[in-house]
Amino acid sequence: MRLKEKIERSMCASDVRDFIDGLASGQLIPTVKILEDILASDEGDYLLGAADAVRRKHKGDEIYLRAIIEFSNYCRRMCKYCGINAENSNVNRYRMSPADIVSNSCDAANAGYTSIILQSGEDVSYDGQTLAEIIRAVKGTGVDAVTLGFGERTAAEYRLWHEAGADRYLLKHETADSGLYAFLHPDSSLSERVWHLKALRESGFQIGSGFMVGLPGQTKLSHAKDLMLLYELGIDMAGIGPFISHPQTQLAGSSNGSADTTLMCVALARLLCPDSNLPATTALNLQGREYTRRVLAGGANVIMQKVEPHAYRMMYEIYPKEIKNIDTIKGERDAWVDFIESCGRTVSRRG
Ligand code: 5AD
Repeated sequence: MRLKEKIERSMCASDVRDFIDGLASGQLIPTVKILEDILASDEGDYLLGAADAVRRKHKGDEIYLRAIIEFSNYCRRMCKYCGINAENSNVNRYRMSPADIVSNSCDAANAGYTSIILQSGEDVSYDGQTLAEIIRAVKGTGVDAVTLGFGERTAAEYRLWHEAGADRYLLKHETADSGLYAFLHPDSSLSERVWHLKALRESGFQIGSGFMVGLPGQTKLSHAKDLMLLYELGIDMAGIGPFISHPQTQLAGSSNGSADTTLMCVALARLLCPDSNLPATTALNLQGREYTRRVLAGGANVIMQKVEPHAYRMMYEIYPKEIKNIDTIKGERDAWVDFIESCGRTVSRRG
């Protein structure tokens, strides 16, 4: 068959498997079209199997079990999908003091965590210096790694925080469709987001991006572009989770994203960025623990567990979620260790 015909005829299963094998071996350079064809295919199981093999080869069987402290739900942004956006006046807002953040980090370290993520809404009431002091103190608890997720700040602040000892920064691109990005973030643009990711890398951070799956207006093509952006940025981490509609946002009543498409996106991210760290996101876990098991067997290698006081967890409602059994920080960690071992994996001692 001539090449032109081959490209024009609809994909059959063997072509898609060839693409998956080519990406898994690193011999095939990805294109948006290839990624879109894989996402549109019925080869999810084959894809997840390939991603699992790449994960094992590049990352081994260890899972990084990380503690996340959501220390403030104040946010100056108006992201249309997010329950804690600045315009939602129904949210009970809270801020933890620097002393409370550090003591929460000590509790997490004492419970066995070796890696701490500090996350908040985009809350500039914590100035750069205050955050730098918090970072120094949290690093001083003896954890291996501190990751930040404070949203978009200045390049000078990024440098300051890296010098204070922070190792990684999470700033998801959310959607690589620039029109949709502008619609969802009326005060920002995709190119600004990418600028910040590059500034973070130049400041010395390992960078994490990621996106939501199934936002209104997204298609398989959008997700192919999301994945290409991860590849082009050469990200170190990527959080990929289904969109979950929040009733107090402008996207109230929209359908939620598909957990199965999310699994395929995580698996493709593993093929495109084989050395990256890919979490089983909380939004995916909400669709059922079975999805967490499947994503860990399809490319993912990180679990993040909230450790701030339970009263705050309920207020950090970026999407609706039920609060399950309330347990201690140690009890919650132990439950994850049991789960991870039940998946045939081990918990990394390193951060
Ligand atoms: N559904 C799913 N994920 C969401 N996030 C924010 N709002 C939602 C939602 N409604 C994700 C975004 C953000 C992260 C903190 O949570 O990807 O970066």
